[in-house]
Amino acid sequence: MKNFGLYIHIPFCVSKCSYCDFCSFVPNHKQMQDYISALKREIVETGEQTKDKVVTSVYIGGGTPSTLYSGAIVEIMDCVRKNFNLIKNCSVTIEANPNSFDNEQAIEYASIGCTRLSLGLQSDNDKILKVLNRVHNYHDCVNAIEAARLNGMTDINVDLILGVPQQTISDLQVTLSKVVNLPITHISVYGLINEPNTPLTKAIEQGKYTLPPEDEAVDMYNLTVKTLAEHGFYRYEISNFSKIGYRSAHNMNYWRRGEYLGLGLGAHSFINGTHFHNTEDFSKYLDAPANCKEDIEPETLKTAKEETIMLALRTTDGLDITEYNKTFSADFLQEYQPVLNKLLKNNLIEIKNNKLIIKDPYISNSIIAEFF
Ligand SMILES: C[S@@+](CC[C@H](N)C(=O)[O-])C[C@H]1O[C@@H](n2cnc3c(N)ncnc32)[C@H](O)[C@@H]1O
Ligand code: SF4
Repeated sequence: MKNFGLYIHIPFCVSKCSYCDFCSFVPNHKQMQDYISALKREIVETGEQTKDKVVTSVYIGGGTPSTLYSGAIVEIMDCVRKNFNLIKNCSVTIEANPNSFDNEQAIEYASIGCTRLSLGLQSDNDKILKVLNRVHNYHDCVNAIEAARLNGMTDINVDLILGVPQQTISDLQVTLSKVVNLPITHISVYGLINEPNTPLTKAIEQGKYTLPPEDEAVDMYNLTVKTLAEHGFYRYEISNFSKIGYRSAHNMNYWRRGEYLGLGLGAHSFINGTHFHNTEDFSKYLDAPANCKEDIEPETLKTAKEETIMLALRTTDGLDITEYNKTFSADFLQEYQPVLNKLLKNNLIEIKNNKLIIKDPYISNSIIAEFF
C-alpha cells in the first residue's frame, strides 16, 4: 500500500433530489448516532492496518455531511487524526448543501482543519432547482460562502449541473455570470446523468419533462468552458475548473490512479491493486463496519492499463506516455498504433512532449472508448 487519499461517506440528506442515485437517505437522529459510532469503529480498525502510510488528502462527502448534528464532524475528524497519519497541511474537503451550512458549521469545520468546502448549488434558477427537487436557493449559497470565508475557509468549490429539463442556454448564461463573480476557487460542472429509477428519469420517460436537445447540451458545455476560462477558472478535467493553484488534490489522486481508501456506507476503495466497496446495506454496515467489503476485484494488467488511459485522458494534463511505459514496461505508441493513427488523422488527439491529450473534451468518452 502506498500513500493514499481518504474518503469518508456520510449517507444522509435533508431530502432526496429528483435525479440523485447516490447512496443517501433522509435519516432520524438515532440513525445518525448509530452511524457515527460505526464509522468510528471502522476508522479505528482500518487505521491499525495503515500505520506505516500517509494520508495525502481527506474528502468528507455524501450524501450531505452538513446534515449531521452539531459536533459529529469534530468526532469523526478527531478519530481520523488519532488513527491515521495525515500529511502536514493535509487538504480536508467537506461537502455541504447551501441551506445546511451556516456560521455554526463553518466554525465547527474550520476548528478541525477543514480547509476546503464544496457546495452543491446546481443552478441559481428557482425553476431548475424545482425540477431537481433541490431545497435551497441562490442566496443560501451566497450566505454559505460568506460564512465559510468569515471563518477562514477560503478554498471553495461550487457544483453546477447542465442539461436539465427546462434549462435553456440563456438560463445557463445567467447562472455562469453570477457564479464566476463569487469569491470561490473552483467550479465543478456535471452533465445530468439520467440514472434509472430516479423520479426525474421516470418523469422524463412519462413525457412530463423533455431533455434539452443534444446540440443544445453541446452548446451549454462549450459556453461553460469559454465563460469560465474568461474569468480565470481553467478546465483541468472534463467537468472540473479551477483558479490557478486550486485544483482538487483529492480528485487529482483519483485521475492519476493513486490509491484511495473509502470509509462509510457503500464507500469505494482502490488499495494494493484491488478495487472493492463497503456494503450499501445500512444495518449490515452498522453490524460490521470494518468487515463488509463487497465486489473485491484485483486488477489485471489489462484493466490497470485501461484504467490508466481512461482516467488520464479525462484531464488536460493527458496521458504521460513515458510514465505509462515505465509503469507497465510497455511501448504505448506501438501497442496502440492503429487507434492512435486513426485519432491523429481525424485531428481528435494530439501528442505533445510525450503526453497524449484529447482535443475536444465534450467527446472524451467516445474517444476513450476507442482504446478498449
Ligand atoms: C452526491 S452530491 C454530494 C454533495 C451534496 N449532497 C450536493 O448535492 O450538493 C455531489 C454532486 O453530484 C451531483 N449529482 C448527483 N446525482 C447526479 C446525476 N444524476 N447527474 C449529475 N450530477 C449528479 C450533485 O448534483 C452534486 O453536485
Ligand atoms: S444530490 Fe446531494 S443533496 Fe441531493 S440527494 Fe444526492 S447527495 Fe443528497
